[in-house]
Amino acid sequence: MSARLPEFPAGFTFGVSTSAYQIEGATSEDGRRPSIWDTFTRTPGTVVDGSTGDVACDHYHRYAEDVELLAGLGVGAYRFSIAWPRVQPDGTGPANPDGLDFYDRLVDALLDRGIDPVATLFHWDLPQALEDRGGWLARDTAGRFADYASLVAGRLGDRVKLWITLNEPFVHMSFGYGLGVHAPGRQQLFDAFPVAHHQLLGHGLAVTALRALTTSPIGITNNYSPVRLQGSTDDDRAAGAAYDALHNRLFTDPILGRGYPEIPGTDPSIVHASDLDTIAAPIDALGVNYYNPTGVRAPTDPDSPLPFDLVPLDGYPTTSFGWPVDPDGLHELLTGLHREYGDNLPPIHITEGGCSYEDTIDADGRCDDPERVAYLDGHLRALHRAMADGVDVRGYYVWSLLDNFEWAEGFTKRFGLVHVDFDTQARTPKTSYAWYHDLISGQA
Ligand code: FCB
Repeated sequence: MSARLPEFPAGFTFGVSTSAYQIEGATSEDGRRPSIWDTFTRTPGTVVDGSTGDVACDHYHRYAEDVELLAGLGVGAYRFSIAWPRVQPDGTGPANPDGLDFYDRLVDALLDRGIDPVATLFHWDLPQALEDRGGWLARDTAGRFADYASLVAGRLGDRVKLWITLNEPFVHMSFGYGLGVHAPGRQQLFDAFPVAHHQLLGHGLAVTALRALTTSPIGITNNYSPVRLQGSTDDDRAAGAAYDALHNRLFTDPILGRGYPEIPGTDPSIVHASDLDTIAAPIDALGVNYYNPTGVRAPTDPDSPLPFDLVPLDGYPTTSFGWPVDPDGLHELLTGLHREYGDNLPPIHITEGGCSYEDTIDADGRCDDPERVAYLDGHLRALHRAMADGVDVRGYYVWSLLDNFEWAEGFTKRFGLVHVDFDTQARTPKTSYAWYHDLISGQA
């Protein structure tokens, strides 16, 4: 990597992201009760290394040290998530004050260091007690989510600078309820559609609930992946359109007031009369998570339960996850959103972007990760080009501050700017941490 990055506009936010279950640990302290991830990780065969988030990065106890790492990095904002089962252990009823106290301390520590707190209300750790009542398949969970949002905003509404209702509802629906590779481990394929609708309804109800308690901007974070067709027949094009509708439009279209795209095999009767209005409550920010494009073609098996095949993309370098590295995909998706939604598109915040590599500590105690530096450099340049092409983007948050518990991959995938030794909890800033620090200070 070469030259200095181009300058971003004044006020552009450089940040980092984490989520509660992936870093906090302390899963049974101070009144927290099990989430679906506590249950899932205890089910044999679900996580590649058999690990759990019981300790993770022990951030619950080490948050002050981690805030110092954030301050050392010089970020303008920190996106973290709030664990619903800490705040409302069974997903209903009054708040657990001890749970809220933790986030209160974290938020104040961030503000003391001049870092804007950006809070995600749901990053996949549903209270198990709600899953026992149907989880997001049950309409009632949407209302429970709005109540929980009010409890959090009642305490933190004066200090959180940006609210994100849900993280990647597409991934939660498809991995958690469609394919069963994430918690809660249900395998319902297209019968998981109610999970999309009830998350969206919960989002809309929560936006309205939050408005009463905060003047800060409110948004939602979706995962986007540009479709790269791996074939040129009409069937391939139909498969690409079906995948695009599911991954890229199912959550964005209704939020931005267009209603649902056509999704085969879904039952429209769960959508009640005023639901689409609730879901389209105006938002101030669209969170965009981008990691990679997706190769799609028509199913080769005529009995396939899905209307597309997903195929690996050739010709790109890959991360240790096997994900293709394609910065142009970020430019393509941002300019595509801008073209597609026009004036209805709220300002975008890239709430996640990053990569996993097999980062190790060398004999001198250093952790050198040139691939991550190259990844971030390339994606920030692509983002800058999209902004020059007219897309309103307000910030970029690297996933992640710390190596952490990567869901079904356990501790085998490292995404951090800071290396974590999971035996000792020693934190070692990587080369990418120093690079990001220099980038941020050079932009100021
Ligand atoms: C995203 C998730 C985040 C992390 C990264 C690698 O889909 O939001 O928690 O797992 O992928």
